[in-house]
Amino acid sequence: MAFTRLATIVSLALGAITVNAGLVRRVTCANGKTTTNAVCCPLFDAVDFLQTNLFDGSECGEEAHSALRLTFHDAIGFSIHGGKGGGADGSILAFNSTELQFHANGGIDDIIAGQFPVFQTLSQQIGISPGDFVHLAGAVGTANCPGAPRLEFMFGRPPPVAPAPDLTIPEPTDNVTSILARFADAGFSPEEAIALLSSHTIAAADVVDTTIPGTPFDSTVGTFDSQVFLEVLLKGTLFPGNGSQPGEVLSPIAGEMRLQSDFVLSQDPRTACFWQAMVNNQERMTTQFKAAMAKLQTLGQNTKNLVDCSDVVPVPASFAGPITFPASFSMADVQIACPQEAFPMLATVAGPAPTVAPVPGS
Ligand code: HEM
Repeated sequence: MAFTRLATIVSLALGAITVNAGLVRRVTCANGKTTTNAVCCPLFDAVDFLQTNLFDGSECGEEAHSALRLTFHDAIGFSIHGGKGGGADGSILAFNSTELQFHANGGIDDIIAGQFPVFQTLSQQIGISPGDFVHLAGAVGTANCPGAPRLEFMFGRPPPVAPAPDLTIPEPTDNVTSILARFADAGFSPEEAIALLSSHTIAAADVVDTTIPGTPFDSTVGTFDSQVFLEVLLKGTLFPGNGSQPGEVLSPIAGEMRLQSDFVLSQDPRTACFWQAMVNNQERMTTQFKAAMAKLQTLGQNTKNLVDCSDVVPVPASFAGPITFPASFSMADVQIACPQEAFPMLATVAGPAPTVAPVPGS
């Protein structure tokens, strides 16, 4: 008791109360929320503002998915060898008139239009930078999806100085060698690249086939589960919209789109076992995705100058699992590309083959 009292130092900092109990330092903000650093306090209200004004009240919908995609398209223009973009700096928001011209940024205009007024309000209220805004929105949007890991959020990115250069974002028409080369140039291993592609479990396409906007990549687009890693391996039989489009390959399920890039990565010897290992392994997928996202969302930043404000990111709902074969599918439909590892045993949903519905609002 006496030890607890001695070890507890209470001080006032920036209108917040700092409690230093043993090694764990906590700050109670004016709004009653607790965090590790008083500079994070204004972000709690910013998160509430984002949920109301961008994410339709904490939905794992179109805006949440696109906010995650935006973090990638903002950050990946970076090179560990220098000479390319500023990384996770918000340049895609601040210099959107340049970066939206890039072919790979097709479909990004909607989320920029949605985020820009929200960014302007928060910039006036708390001085948030474009980089912090883009990467906070990505973490919050992802947290709205059940099963997702709680992504880290590092606070304090300076304003971006220039747009990223064109031709630094992988395209679905790219081959495995060039995709992995681009990821490697930005500092990611093939395993980390596959980990980042867990994002396609909460993803849909608007512009690959413009006749069918909002066509999901898996049958559970509102849940951050490993279903996409399973469904990309199922034998493809159909195109969901207006025939074959560039970057699209045969899909196994009506209403579902398969990206060529996802498929070739699932089949290539350099990545097939990383892909297959994600199937029905929620723990591996979320752990690896969280680690790779922490790296992506601080590319080009000096993390010594950033404050860890991960406490402000909402805690996502969990996903119980296991995943299942969609109705009418079984092990016989799996295009195994990693025969040296056992494939998980999965049950099949009862009933006729499904048709996947588009994501509303796309
Ligand atoms: C090889 C690398 C990648 C390629 C070729 C690729 C390609 C694409 C394409 C073509 C779309 C559909 C765009 C549209 O038609 O609207 C898409 C959507 C998406 N991508 Fe990727 N992607 C890659 C990696 C990533 C990574 C690393 C992330 C995040 C960490 C990501 C997150 C998303 C999300 C969340 C969506 C859905 C957006 C929405 O539903 O509005 N992608 N991706």
